[in-house]
Amino acid sequence: MADVVVVGSANVDLVLPVQRIPRPGETVLASGLTRGPGGKGANQAVASARAGASTAFVAALGADDGGALLREALDGVDLSLVQIVDAPTGTAIITVDADGENAITVAPSANAELRLTPEARAAVAEAKIVLSQLEIPFGTVQAAAEASRYFILNAAPAAELSDELLGHVDLLVVNETEAEAVAGTKRSALLDRVPAAVVTLGAEGAVILTRGADEVRVPAVQVEVVDTTAAGDTFCGVLAATLAATSTTARDLTNAVRRATVAASLSVQTAGAIPSVPHGEAVDARVA
Ligand code: ADP
Ligand code: NA
Repeated sequence: MADVVVVGSANVDLVLPVQRIPRPGETVLASGLTRGPGGKGANQAVASARAGASTAFVAALGADDGGALLREALDGVDLSLVQIVDAPTGTAIITVDADGENAITVAPSANAELRLTPEARAAVAEAKIVLSQLEIPFGTVQAAAEASRYFILNAAPAAELSDELLGHVDLLVVNETEAEAVAGTKRSALLDRVPAAVVTLGAEGAVILTRGADEVRVPAVQVEVVDTTAAGDTFCGVLAATLAATSTTARDLTNAVRRATVAASLSVQTAGAIPSVPHGEAVDARVA
């Protein structure tokens, strides 16, 4: 059985490069259109596998060419728990501006049908690390959290979360917007809700918060920004894989966050979601 199980979304990304992301009511022209594999769950599963962990993906795809595109892209990931459902594969419309900033709209479609089957629950219960996000039904996330030994929730997209769910979270990973949705503007308030959290800070790297310990800052690598799509997902997948290979003690958590931060920084240098996820060797060559 896999060391890391990712329970999450898979989407076909339709990427539109634009000079400027349109405001409400505005129309802009894109310089092109590309179609590629993505979705937070799929990105994170690939990131975990490329970081060296045996990784299984619990997801729902449609019986369409989008589903086929994703299967091919998830090379190296155990897909035996992927469900084929009676809905189209999820789709994301991503506009990326000249500075590499993006705006994303997701049609969940098949992702909305994802359930934790008995087989999936067994894999979750056996995994060292289970990783989920919030592009799938809340009940499926809750079921995965309850069945896990060590549950990492990447609370993205931003949402208010119940104590019922957070009570099963061992490590929360959020960007600054998502942190605010969970616990307001005071970062340390996250620890009133979960025992440990990592807040990613874009070009500033990340900060680790653990109950009863000082904050630990981890800097990002300075890179040329091409496309920040999947930076957070790369971070989460590499973090999960590294924790699975070591342990979840404070010291190993810090080292895993260092590796995740470097990997995520490298991913912003390359366009696209899954194509931009670096391999473990490239990451480790940059980890000081
Ligand atoms: P999200 O993409 O989920 O909003 P962040 O913007 O915080 O999350 O980015 C996640 C991680 O990606 C950061 O912790 C950092 O390692 C890396 N990263 C993001 N933007 C940059 C950047 N401009 N330069 C270097 N690293 C970056
Ligand atoms: Na990228």
